Amino acid sequence: MGVSTLITGIGELVTNDPDLGTRTDAAVVIDDGVIAWVGDAAAAPAADEAFDAQGRAVLPGFVDSHSHLVFAGDRALEFQARMAGESYAAGGIRTTVAATRAATDDRLAAGVARHVAEMHRQGTTTVEIKSGYGLTVDDEARSLRIAREFTDETTFLGAHVVPPEYADDPAAYVALVTGPMLEAAAPYARWIDVFCETGAFDEDQARTILRTGEAAGLKGRLHANQLGEGPGVQLAAELGLTAVDHCTYLTDDDVHALRDAGTVATLLPGVEFSTRHPYPDARRLLDAGVTVALASDCNPGSCYTSSLPFCIALAVREMGMTPGEAVWAATAGGAAALGRTDVGVVAPGKCADLLLLDAPTHVHLAYRPGVPLVARTWSA
Ligand code: NIG
Ligand code: FE
Repeated sequence: MGVSTLITGIGELVTNDPDLGTRTDAAVVIDDGVIAWVGDAAAAPAADEAFDAQGRAVLPGFVDSHSHLVFAGDRALEFQARMAGESYAAGGIRTTVAATRAATDDRLAAGVARHVAEMHRQGTTTVEIKSGYGLTVDDEARSLRIAREFTDETTFLGAHVVPPEYADDPAAYVALVTGPMLEAAAPYARWIDVFCETGAFDEDQARTILRTGEAAGLKGRLHANQLGEGPGVQLAAELGLTAVDHCTYLTDDDVHALRDAGTVATLLPGVEFSTRHPYPDARRLLDAGVTVALASDCNPGSCYTSSLPFCIALAVREMGMTPGEAVWAATAGGAAALGRTDVGVVAPGKCADLLLLDAPTHVHLAYRPGVPLVARTWSA
C-alpha cells in the first residue's frame, strides 16, 4: 500500500474539472499515485502525511503532447544564422539525422533523460516523444525503443523528411515508411505522425502513411500548416485525427474544419519564437469553438525549449489567450491532444500529477516570464 498525502494551505487550486472549478481554501488527498479526494480544507479527511503549500498555487501537471527528444547534437549555429536574417528551412532536419544516426544508444538515451528531467523541473508530468531523426528501419525502431523507456506516448515519425539517400525517389521512401519501417516501429509506438508541408510530404503521401499506420494499430496525428497554408489541417479533419500540430497558417475553412471534426489544434509558440514566423492566432481558434492545446515541440532545430511555462507566457502575450486559457491548454488541452482523460485534471480517480507554483495564482506563469516558478511536482 502506498502512503497517502493531504495537501493543505493551497492558495489557489486549478482543477480543470467543471464541477470543482478553480478554488481557494481547497485541499487534495493523493493516495498511491491517484487523487483520492478534493474539497474544502475544513472537510478534509485524515491522511498518512501532510504537506503545507503555504498559500501557493497547485495546478495539474503540464501535459506536453509534442516533443522530439531522441536526437544527438544541436543546431545553435542555425539558430544564430536565423536571428541574423536567415529563414527556417526544414532541410536542417537532415543535419540532426546525420548526428543521430552516428550516436550510440546510450548517448541518445542520456539525451532523452536529460531533457525529460528538464521538463519535469518545469512542471511537465506527461510527455509525448517522437522519432524522426533516424529515418532508417533500425534507427527509427531504436529511437522509439529508447523513447518508450521514458513514456507510453511515443510517436513514429519516419515521415519527417525524405532522407538524402532517397532524394531521387521519394515514392520508394514512402514505401519503406509504410512497409518495413512501420513494422519495426509499431511495437514501440502508440501514434503515427507525418510532416505534411512543402518540402516534406504532400497530402496524398500523408493520407497513405496515416491510413497504413492506422491499419497497423497506430493512431494518427499530423504536423501541418507550420510554414504556410496547406492541405494538412483539412486532411487531419477529414481523417478525424485527435490532434493536428502547428496550425500557424490557417484559412477560415481550416478553422471550421477543425471545429466540425473536433480535432484539437496544438499550438507550439516556441517554434515561432525561434523561427520568427508569426505566432498562431489562438484567439481566432478559441472564438470559433476549436479545442486548443499548447506544447513545447522541443527539438534541436525549430524550437529548443522544453519549458511549458515559457510557452504559456508566449501564448498569453502573443496569441490572445488569457492566463487561464493558456494553463488549460497546457494541461487539459494537452491531455485532449493525446486522447487522455486521466491526466490534466485534478479530480478524484485521476492520476496524481500535480505541480506546486512558487506563486499565489496561475496568472504568475505569464506575469513572471522566465522565472523558475515550479517549486515541485507530484507524479503518479
Ligand atoms: O515540429 N516541423 C517539423 N519538425 C520539427 C522541426 C524539426 C527540426 O527542425 O529539426 C517541428 O518543428
Ligand atoms: Fe514537431
